Amino acid sequence: MTEIRTPRLILRRWYDDDLAPMADINADPQVMHWIDDGSVRDLDDTAEAIERWEEEWDEEGFGLFAVELLASGEVAGFAGLSVPDFLPEVLPAVAISWRLGSQFWGQGYASEAAHATLEFALQDRGLDRVISVNRVGNDASENVVRKLGMEPERETAHPVHGFPLRVHAIDLTEFHA
Ligand SMILES: CC(C)(COP(=O)(O)OP(=O)(O)OC[C@H]1O[C@@H](n2cnc3c(N)ncnc32)[C@H](O)[C@@H]1OP(=O)(O)O)[C@@H](O)C(=O)NCCC(=O)NCCS
Repeated sequence: MTEIRTPRLILRRWYDDDLAPMADINADPQVMHWIDDGSVRDLDDTAEAIERWEEEWDEEGFGLFAVELLASGEVAGFAGLSVPDFLPEVLPAVAISWRLGSQFWGQGYASEAAHATLEFALQDRGLDRVISVNRVGNDASENVVRKLGMEPERETAHPVHGFPLRVHAIDLTEFHA
């Protein structure tokens, strides 16, 4: 069972009890504003998503971690790795992403989870490159991207929705654990 501990967080696979807190996060318009077309997700959508994430773990050996706060045991959201199938022009690739409940923003948790995820990808899983894909304008997310040392690679458009996307990347050689 893959589990990572950072000073304040546990990154781990998903438990049944994670559905309710993750569904609350996915139902918050502020959180979902820059995700896909900005629409919120309901409980069933979140249950299906968690099932998909767990399948990706089994198939790929990586996936999206549930992010749990060590101090309280609360699930703050996710951080992790996925294959960005929605953007064929960047494939083959593995992308890092994150989504936390808004009450957990501004405390450095996303960066702490993201850094541990990158270390897992590049050092533990042996990937030689990780990308990130963000909607142009998602400054909070790009702030995390820059703090990880990821470099801008290209701008493109979402194949379905058409809005601008920015792709960043980092190689194993550029990563400082
Ligand atoms: C993107 C997202 C995860 C960023 O969260 P965040 O809390 O802003 O990110 P960070 O963890 O980097 O924390 C930010 C701030 O916390 C503050 N902070 C407080 N305590 C801190 C600590 N102990 N360590 C580090 N930073 C701390 C810092 O001021 C930091 O800002 P700075 O880097 O400008 O100095 C969050 O906005 C989110 O979930 N958005 C919705 C989902 C989304 O858009 N995902 C991306 C698309 S894939």
